[in-house]
Amino acid sequence: MSLFKLENVDYYYDNHVKVLDNINYEFEPSKVYAITGKSGSGKTTLLSLMSGLDKPKSGKIIYNDNDISKIDEDKYRSHHVGVVFQSFNLLPHLTAIENVVLSMDIANLKVGNKKQVALSLLNEVGLDEEKANRRILKLSGGEQQRVAIARALSFQPEVILADEPTGNLDMHNEKQITEIFRRLAHEKNKCVIIVTHSNSVAASADVVYDLEKAKENLA
Ligand SMILES: Nc1ncnc2c1ncn2[C@@H]1O[C@H](COP(=O)(O)OP(=O)(O)OP(=O)(O)O)[C@@H](O)[C@H]1O
Ligand SMILES: [Mg+2]
Repeated sequence: MSLFKLENVDYYYDNHVKVLDNINYEFEPSKVYAITGKSGSGKTTLLSLMSGLDKPKSGKIIYNDNDISKIDEDKYRSHHVGVVFQSFNLLPHLTAIENVVLSMDIANLKVGNKKQVALSLLNEVGLDEEKANRRILKLSGGEQQRVAIARALSFQPEVILADEPTGNLDMHNEKQITEIFRRLAHEKNKCVIIVTHSNSVAASADVVYDLEKAKENLA
C-alpha cells in the first residue's frame, strides 16, 4: 500500500527553470527511503512540496488517497508529517523538553502530561533527563539533531521527512541517527524519507531514490 504518491510533479522557481520535471514515485509505510542526487538536483525542493510548504506547479502529491493541496495546510503539517530541517529550527533559549512540548501545543495535542511524553521521546532518541532539561544552545550538534527528531515525532506523524539529518555529524553520530530512523520505520511503521549526500546513510536505507537518475531516465 502506498502512503505517499507523487504524480507527474513539476516545479520551478521564479526563473522558470524546471527543478522537478514530471516526478512519479510512491512511498510505503515501514520503510526508510534515501533521496539522493547531486547538489541542486531538487531534493530540498521536493521535501518542501511533500511537507506542504509549497505546491507543485502541476501534478499531484497524494497522501493516504488525498491530494495534499486539498487538505488544510496547517493540519497536514501539524498532524501527519514530521519534518526535520537541516538547520533544526529549534528555539535555542528553551530546553529540549520545552521545544518538544511547544510543538505539541502548536499541534493542539490532547495528551495528559506533555513534559513526561516529551521526556520519553527524548529518551528514545538517546538523550537522558539531564540533557533533556538543558537549553538547546548548551547541546552539541548531534544532540540538537536528536531533539529535532524527537520534536518531529511529538504528534505521532505517519511520515518523517528529514533534510540532510546527518550533514553536520561525525560517523559515530551518523550511525546512531540512522539507527533511530530504521527503528522508527521497522518497529513503529513510520514512512521515513531522508535526503542525504552520505553513502553510508543511503546504504542503511531500505530504498534509494536517486533524483538525478530519475531525470536521466526521462531524457
Ligand atoms: N528560492 C529559490 N529561488 C530560485 N531558485 C531556487 C530557490 N531555491 C532553490 N533554487 C534552485 O533550485 C534548484 C534545486 O534546489 P534544491 O535546494 O532543491 O537542491 P538540492 O538538491 O536540495 O541541493 P543541495 O544538495 O545542495 O541541498 C537549484 O538550482 C537551486 O539553485
Ligand atoms: Mg538541499
